[in-house]
Amino acid sequence: MKSGALGFAVALGVAALVVPRTSLALDLLRGQRVFNMHCSVCHGMNGVPVIQQAPSFATKERLMQPDMMLVQSVKTGKTLMPPFMGILKDEEILDAIHYARTLR
Ligand code: HEC
Repeated sequence: MKSGALGFAVALGVAALVVPRTSLALDLLRGQRVFNMHCSVCHGMNGVPVIQQAPSFATKERLMQPDMMLVQSVKTGKTLMPPFMGILKDEEILDAIHYARTLR
């Protein structure tokens, strides 16, 4: 049983090495960089909003929606939030949203 678990762990390690890094792979570090640079002015470094109209990511406000809906809102903009289309790639927006979900 122990060797089975070890084999599985080794297989996982090999898979991690073999599977190519696609641009869609979740990248929390990039998400943090994007968030701090482009989003924190309104949403706050720690997710506590700086402007009253912005949802609080520290309390997970709005973040329960599907990824693609949130990416769409950020791309097209929403009321006070400017559109990020042409400024950020979809994957960067997605990483920033994933990062926002880690804030508390
Ligand atoms: C100029 C201020 C501002 C900036 C910069 C900003 N936002 Fe927002 N954001 C807002 C406001 C205000 C709302 C609420 C919009 C509404 O529903 O009225 C919002 C809403 C959102 C929502 C919820 C959208 C929805 O459909 O419910 C997400 C997700 C979000 N922002 C992510 C981001 C990300 C990621 C960035 C950086 C790439 C960002 N925001 C940059 C002000 C901002």
